[in-house]
Amino acid sequence: MDDGKSTLIGRLLHDCRHVPDDQLAQLSRDSRRHGTTGDDLDLALLLDGLEAEREQGITIDVAYRFFATPRRAFIVADTPGHEQYTRNMATGASTADAAVLLVDARKGLLTQTRRHAYVCSLLRIRHVVLVVNKIDLVEWSAARFDAIVADFLGFAGKLGFESVQAVPVCARHGDNVAARSRRTPWYRGPTLLELLETLEVEHALSARPFRFPVQYVNRPDASFRGYAGTVATGRIRRGDPVIVAVSGRASTVARIVTADGDLDEAAAGDAITLVLADELDVARGDLLVSPRHRPEVADQFAAHVIWMGGEPLLPGRSYWMRIGTRSVPASVTTLKYQVDVDTLQYSPARSLALNGVAFCNLATGAPVAFDAYADDRATGAFVLIDRYTNATVGAGMIAFALRRATNVHRQEHAVTRVARARLNGHGSGIVWFTGLSGSGKSTIANLVEQKLHARGVRTYLLDGDNVRHGLNRDLGFTDPDRVENVRRVGEVAKLFVDAGVVVLCSFISPFRAERRLVRELVPEGDFVEVFVDAPLEECIRRDPKGLYARAKAGAIPNFTGIDSPYEVPERPEIRIDTTATGEAEAADAVLRLLEARGFAG
Ligand code: ADX
Repeated sequence: MDDGKSTLIGRLLHDCRHVPDDQLAQLSRDSRRHGTTGDDLDLALLLDGLEAEREQGITIDVAYRFFATPRRAFIVADTPGHEQYTRNMATGASTADAAVLLVDARKGLLTQTRRHAYVCSLLRIRHVVLVVNKIDLVEWSAARFDAIVADFLGFAGKLGFESVQAVPVCARHGDNVAARSRRTPWYRGPTLLELLETLEVEHALSARPFRFPVQYVNRPDASFRGYAGTVATGRIRRGDPVIVAVSGRASTVARIVTADGDLDEAAAGDAITLVLADELDVARGDLLVSPRHRPEVADQFAAHVIWMGGEPLLPGRSYWMRIGTRSVPASVTTLKYQVDVDTLQYSPARSLALNGVAFCNLATGAPVAFDAYADDRATGAFVLIDRYTNATVGAGMIAFALRRATNVHRQEHAVTRVARARLNGHGSGIVWFTGLSGSGKSTIANLVEQKLHARGVRTYLLDGDNVRHGLNRDLGFTDPDRVENVRRVGEVAKLFVDAGVVVLCSFISPFRAERRLVRELVPEGDFVEVFVDAPLEECIRRDPKGLYARAKAGAIPNFTGIDSPYEVPERPEIRIDTTATGEAEAADAVLRLLEARGFAG
């Protein structure tokens, strides 16, 4: 922010003669009229169209700009530097060979600088160039430059970059950008451009093992079936063997089809359609790979996660994970530690806020194929997506698979849920009561259970107040603890359903995401959500346990409705307004619904 990024990029484009004459003339007129640089060209104006779009809220995560010198061609991934834009920064950085970190000579390193350097290291950018800009504004001071560089090296030394180089620059006048400056005689190093031209970058994507994420299955008619996508890494020839990573099914490449005809060979970056010799079950999201270099397949792994969501990451909450072209439900099972980007120290954490970085264990709803991010940036990276807003809320880099879980297999039981239902003479399911404390959940759940019991239905009632004395006695009432509370209860309820029991659950369960998580644990129709609705004022008036009074007095922190949220169900199977409906009447209404579902005998 304001460190001269636009000016520096404008300067690079200008000095490499990438600004056409007419645009230059326009720029010179604009500079005199709107510029902030007196009679000089205000090169930042070259990029201002983009800034304007950003201000209008048009989302541009990364703007790509192109320029070239006789020695090398460049793509600049220009990302806004403001704190809230770590997301964009990660997007731009994930494919970059080098990062140029800009520092204002007057201000020195900011938290932003450290954060960005750290994110660059997580994303495995190997080279960093520290541009100390506005060196003219510190009287071309060598001492100031040296101090900033020493400061940065002290920090970046821990980050494992292959090279870190620094240049004193005045982007506004072009000093040490493309031409050496006479005003920094103490600096004997290369200009920024020379540095960028000579950095040793990796172009070995096609030398890596073959990885092809299937973007879609192209099946115009019964005679053709091809798998379309872009080769992520490696190369492929006609006749090469391939396997589907997760299922392990094997075939060979019969054709490599493109819009311009068939190819004998394709490599990383090529958009192609592969036709295989055999009919395999391949779908969007599958990864086709070389059988000699297989990726890992797991449903649990450890990864770094950069959080970009406005709402914090909560362990146990289900998100969509997109890895390659595949989407699977995923949740963080353990937050191992959070990283302080200023000091690089680790600290324990229960949740992760905007811009936070953590190392954690994740579990996915189905096995996924991947490589460690350190080996392959394309197949080792994922994003996490909020299941309600569809916003990208996290970016992850996989460190390693947790093998433990892949060695645990499911055991098939001879006595099944169906057999148990036959014996019982009724179906099983989850009846989930949600609502504020004091809304009447437990009272109605109790009544429903009595009535079911009287009819000979096998039931069990799980209640927040009781479960929290045993199974969940380690949990309190913070958001992450409530998420975990409901997650565990959901798993227990699922076992009851398998056992043939109608399980009634009475929990505030304030978050939609976790209620939905439980809903999705059992087959559709086996989960009935009962929203026990009473206005907060009414619950406060009732205050059966005296808890609201204490919460209002500040004696109970995070009390639902007082200083902790309750998200109203959007589509409950039944809503009961307990200010208008009596308990018996409410219980009967629930019962009728259960009859219709086959749970009520
Ligand atoms: S939930 O939010 O995690 O679903 P749960 O239903 O298990 O909560 O427990 C709620 C019960 O715990 C309430 O009925 C109340 O008796 C008690 N309780 C104690 N502290 C709190 C609190 N801070 N917020 C809500 N309920 C609390």
